[in-house]
Amino acid sequence: MDREILEGLSYNEKRLLLAMDKIGGVSTPEELIANGSFALEVEVMGSASWLSTKGLMQMDEEQSVFYVLGDEKVAKDGLAERRAITIINDAGGRMDMSALAEAMPNGEDKIAVGWLKRKGLADIVKEGDSKILALTDLGKEMLSKRMPDEEVIDKLAQGPVAKGTVDEKIIKDLKGRQSMVVEDVKVKRTLKLTDMGREAIASGIELKEEVAQITDNLIQSGKWKEVDFRKYDVQTFAPAFYPAKKHPLSRLGAEVRKIYTDMGFTEFDGEYVEPAFWDLDVLFVPQDHPARELQDTFYLSNPKKFDLSSYEDLVQMVKKIHENGGDTGSTGWGGKWSREMAEQAMLRTHTTVNTITYISKHPEAPAKVFSLSRIFRKESIDATHLPEFTQIEGIVIDENANFDMLISLIKEFYSKMGFDQIRIRPAYFPYTEPSLEFEVFFNGKWMELGGAGIFRPEVVAPFGVKVPVLAWGFGFERLAMLKWNIKDIRDLYISDIDDLKKNPTF
Ligand code: PHE
Repeated sequence: MDREILEGLSYNEKRLLLAMDKIGGVSTPEELIANGSFALEVEVMGSASWLSTKGLMQMDEEQSVFYVLGDEKVAKDGLAERRAITIINDAGGRMDMSALAEAMPNGEDKIAVGWLKRKGLADIVKEGDSKILALTDLGKEMLSKRMPDEEVIDKLAQGPVAKGTVDEKIIKDLKGRQSMVVEDVKVKRTLKLTDMGREAIASGIELKEEVAQITDNLIQSGKWKEVDFRKYDVQTFAPAFYPAKKHPLSRLGAEVRKIYTDMGFTEFDGEYVEPAFWDLDVLFVPQDHPARELQDTFYLSNPKKFDLSSYEDLVQMVKKIHENGGDTGSTGWGGKWSREMAEQAMLRTHTTVNTITYISKHPEAPAKVFSLSRIFRKESIDATHLPEFTQIEGIVIDENANFDMLISLIKEFYSKMGFDQIRIRPAYFPYTEPSLEFEVFFNGKWMELGGAGIFRPEVVAPFGVKVPVLAWGFGFERLAMLKWNIKDIRDLYISDIDDLKKNPTF
């Protein structure tokens, strides 16, 4: 016998075991209440179900069907055909059908006539244009007798009747007659001590009031020294409870937003569909850059292209910057810049497109903005790649901004996210100079998380920005994978409701 089970028994569980033992180990809740062992059925059942999860008791349920009167009116008024034979008899044993309809309103005469015929209580005879109801010998006999179905009704009027003790055919008819009779299912519970239960009793159960809950009063009065505390039984079964929670990515997004807004940034967003002009050309991505290729970028067929003429001055400036550097002091990429390529409609490949459209509308310093939004790249799906993912992007436009500030902003963000080991290395992006890439140390591995840099004059000059613009873009899903140690990026989007509920880490 497991000591923990014995020590974990509540006062009422012990009471129930002892009461059951006294009456031979088998009982019902009703009996235990009748003999004064317990006052309430819930007390018995509560303790009994705990004892049965602990294996000390067995609970059996037996369901039995009873019939009860469904409509009390029937018991009072009687069957329609009973009233009809009385009315016909009072009229001399014969009656015009239309006179019966007057005597039994609300269509009850129709029900009555149907049953009069079915039971053979009256015949219908035609006399000229009218139909006459005439009581049969059986109908006359029944004036002073109860019919079989009436006997059943009388019985049910005394109380519920167990299925199997009355004529099922009559019951079926009465159930069909506007539910005069309905079923009532009663559950009979039997409690039985198991061998383990007997063993527990044999090992000696001491019935002492025990304290299950500590109160201030108990502590302050010093009474706690005298009372017995009930031990916890941590092995007892208890139903799992899963409170509502937000999707892990929504929570992580909220966390990212909180960190940036706490640092004084405001959020911005842009469009999913843009011309290549904004996603690439304005950002000084050369037109022969591999990122432009069909296999990397989703170009659209509808709309296929954008008309750029509403900002023709900017288009001309960007053209010059690409071809010879324009007034920026750069030599540009050389060659001929193609307007058609820039007009192509595409799904944005980075949120840096939002950044630059934002700067075009708000070129003034100082500014600190961030975005957390969806981007699209033509990647094949595997454990670390998705064709749609989310970028955390931000910029600082400030006279005093510099490379050190950029590094400390990145470090600060990740440290607030809980990652303190960050490694920075030089990198290349066509739109920033200097540029950096950074990695976070996690689980014994360095993992690449994003890029950053200071926008080149070729990018910001068209908007009249003269001060440094720090810019960065991080992978949001990568962050989630790090945070929850997820090996497969797809797991983040499968949203298996059961896993989401039960997974304690997210
Ligand atoms: N746009 C880059 C990317 O998608 C990230 C980046 C943003 C780099 C801003 C530099 C500056 O990977």
